Amino acid sequence: MTEVIKFDKEDRIGLITIDNPPANALSFAVVKGIANTVANFVEDTELSALIISGAGKMFVAGADIREFNMARPKDVPELHNLINSIEESPKPIIAALNGLALGGGLELAMGCHFRVAHEKALLGQPEVKLGIIPGAGGTQRLPRLVGAEMALKMIVGGEPIAAKEALGVGLVDEILTEDFISDSIAFAKKVMSGGTRPTGKIKLEITDSTIFDKWRDKIKPKSRGLDAPYECVSCVEAAFNNSFEKGLELERKIFVNLRDGEKSKAMRHMFFAEREINKVPGLSRNTETLDINSAAVVGAGTMGGGIAMNFANASIPVKILDITKDAVETGIEIIRKNYNRSVASGRFTQETVEKRMELITGTTDYQDLSQVDIVIEAVFEDMELKKGIFLELEKVCKSEAILASNTSSLDINEIATVTNRPDKVCGTHFFSPANVMKLMENVRAKDTSIETVATIMRLSKTLKKTGVLVGVGDGFVGNRMMHVAARVAEFMVEEGALPWQIDEVIYNFGFPMGPFAMNDLAGVDVRYSIRQEQKKLYGDRRQSIILENLYQTGRFGQKTNGGWYTYDKGERKGRPEPEVETLIVETSKKLGFKRRKFSDQEILDRYLAALINTGAHVLEEGLAMRGSDIDVIWNYGYGFPRYRGGPMFYADQVGLDKIYKSVCNYNTDYGDWLRPSILLERLASEGGSLGKYSID
Ligand code: 3HC
Repeated sequence: MTEVIKFDKEDRIGLITIDNPPANALSFAVVKGIANTVANFVEDTELSALIISGAGKMFVAGADIREFNMARPKDVPELHNLINSIEESPKPIIAALNGLALGGGLELAMGCHFRVAHEKALLGQPEVKLGIIPGAGGTQRLPRLVGAEMALKMIVGGEPIAAKEALGVGLVDEILTEDFISDSIAFAKKVMSGGTRPTGKIKLEITDSTIFDKWRDKIKPKSRGLDAPYECVSCVEAAFNNSFEKGLELERKIFVNLRDGEKSKAMRHMFFAEREINKVPGLSRNTETLDINSAAVVGAGTMGGGIAMNFANASIPVKILDITKDAVETGIEIIRKNYNRSVASGRFTQETVEKRMELITGTTDYQDLSQVDIVIEAVFEDMELKKGIFLELEKVCKSEAILASNTSSLDINEIATVTNRPDKVCGTHFFSPANVMKLMENVRAKDTSIETVATIMRLSKTLKKTGVLVGVGDGFVGNRMMHVAARVAEFMVEEGALPWQIDEVIYNFGFPMGPFAMNDLAGVDVRYSIRQEQKKLYGDRRQSIILENLYQTGRFGQKTNGGWYTYDKGERKGRPEPEVETLIVETSKKLGFKRRKFSDQEILDRYLAALINTGAHVLEEGLAMRGSDIDVIWNYGYGFPRYRGGPMFYADQVGLDKIYKSVCNYNTDYGDWLRPSILLERLASEGGSLGKYSID
C-alpha cells in the first residue's frame, strides 16, 4: 500500500481515502494505489461495496499536471484504464466527493457507479484551460450523465458547477451534509445489494444535432489560436455518433496529441507560473499583514476612478480625493456611467451598483484620509507633483497606513524620501482600464518592508487581481519591455515597413492588437511625453523620429479620431491613412533611409527579439524575480497569447542561441536598445532556460 492511499473497512464496506496533498492529484503513486486496492476489493468476498473519497478539503484536483512530461512507470496503469476497470467492477463503487472534483477527479467519479457529494463540493472539467481535453473518459461519460448541452457547457467552458446544480442535472445522486464519511457509508449500505450502474452503458440519443455547430460558432470569438475548445466539441459530438469504446479511443488520440503539443505545454507553464508569483522569498503564511478595511485614491481621473471601482467591487469603502469639487464629481459620475454600462449588459443589477456607489465617496480635503488603511496615488506622471502628495499624506495618514503610488514609470525610492515611513511606501501599478485589467505590478522599493509586500500581494487577491512583485526601475517590468518593442516597431516603420503591416503580424501572432493600434488607444501624446522623459535616460540612443513627427500633426489616436490610423465615426477599428503613409515616407527620406521591404517573419523576429532581450535585462537587473513572472505580466497586462506561454517561455521554445544571435544582429541597427543581455548570452551558451530562470 502506498502512503498516498489509505484503506479502511467498516462492516462490508471498504473505504479508500486519497491523501496526496496539496491537491490530491492523481499521481502515478495514487493511480497505482487505487488500482491495487480496487483489484483487492473485487477479490475480497467479505466486501460488498467500495467508497473512494479524498482527505482534506479536496476530492481530487485532476491528473497530476507535473507528471505530464514524465514517463509513466511500467507498473502503473494508465488513468483511463484504471477508471474503466472501476466501471467494470462487479460490485458497486461509490465516489464520495468531499470537495473539489476536477478533471481526472471528476472522471474517476464518473467511472464509479454512484456519486455522493458534500454540499460545498464543486465538480468540473477544466482541462480546456490547459489546452487539452478530458482524457480519461470525461467527454464520453459526462454527456451520458447530463446530456449534450450541459456536458458542452462544462467541458468547453471549463468552469466547475456546485454540488446542488450537479444533483439537479443528474451528475450526483445525493448531497450529504452531516458527518460526510458516515453518511457515505450509510449510502453505500443502501445501494450495495442493488448491483452496479456503469455510466458507459447508458445509451445516448441526440434531439438536436445542430447544437455542436452552434457551440463551434459560440466559442469562435474567444478561441483564436486555440485547438482544445474545438476538440472538446468534437469529442462530445463523437459520444453521440459512436459506440462508447470508439468514443473513448478518439478521445484518447486527441488528448495525447494535444498534451504533447506546444500549445498545451505553454498553457501548463502558465498554470504553474501563476502559482509561482505568490512565492516571495522571506514571505510566509505567518508574515503579518495589515487588514485593508478602507482605502483612498488620490486623483479622480480615469485611472483613479478605475482603481476605486476595484475597492468598491470588493466591498471596501473608498474615498476619492482631487483638488477641486468639480474634478471629484466628474470622476464619480464617470464611475457611475461605467457601472450603468454593466447594468445595461446584464452583468450587475441596479441594486448591486447602488451598493457599490454607496462605498465610494469624494473629498477635496486630505484630512478625510486620516483613518484609511491604504492610499493609492493615481495622478499625472510628474515626480514633483507626486512628492507633494506624499508629503501631504505623510502628515495626515495614520502611522500604520500604506502609501502606494500607481506610477507606471517613476522612481518610487525617490517618492519615498519625502515620508517618514519608507517601509510602508510601495507601488501598485494597475493597468488600464483598471477596473477591467487583471494585472497589478506590485512594486517593492528599496525600503519597503516584507509586511507591506505581504499586504499588497494579499490586496491583489482581495481585489481579484493577479499581483506580480517587481522592483523599481524604468517602466518596471511590463512597460520597460513594451517601450523597447514599440520603438523597434517604429524604427522598422522608418526603414520601410508600415504600421498596419506590423500590427497585422503581431495580431496574427496572437496578441489582441499590434503596437500602433495600441498606441492609438492609449494616446500618441501619452507615448510622446513618456519619450520626452526617457530622453533624460536614453538621450544618446537612436530616437523614434516618426513618433515625434506624428505627434506634431496633432493626430493623438482614437481620442482625436486619428493617430497612426483614421477612425471613422463610431468605429473603434482604424483604417490605414494615406496621409500618415506620406508622413512616414517623408520621414524615411529625411533620415536617409532607402525604404525596403520587411517580410512578416522579419517583423516578428525583430519585435520579439526586442521583448525577449529586454526581458532578460529585467531579470539580470533583478526587477523581476523569475522568467515566469514576466510571462504572467505579459499574458495579463498585454495579451501575450497564453498558448505561447509568455515571451520568456516562447524564447526557450524558439531556442535561446537563435534568439541571442538575432539580438546581436539587430544590435547593429538599434544600438543600445538591443544591447545583448549578458544573462541571455550565458543561458544560450549553457543550454539554460529563461522561462524557468529564477534569481534565488
Ligand atoms: N496537478 C498537480 N499539482 C496541482 C494540481 C494538479 N492537477 N492542481 C493543483 N496543484 C498544485 C498547485 O500547483 C499548487 O502547488 P504549489 O503549492 O506547489 O504551488 C497546489 O496544488 C495548490 O494549488 P493552488 O495554489 O492553485 O490552490 P487553490 O486552492 O487556489 O486552487 C485548484 C486549487 C482549484 C485545484 C487549482 O489548483 C486548480 O485549478 N488546479 C488545476 C485543476 C485542473 O486543471 N485539473 C485538471 C488536470 S488535467 C487532467 O485531469 C487530465 C485528465 O483529464 C486526464
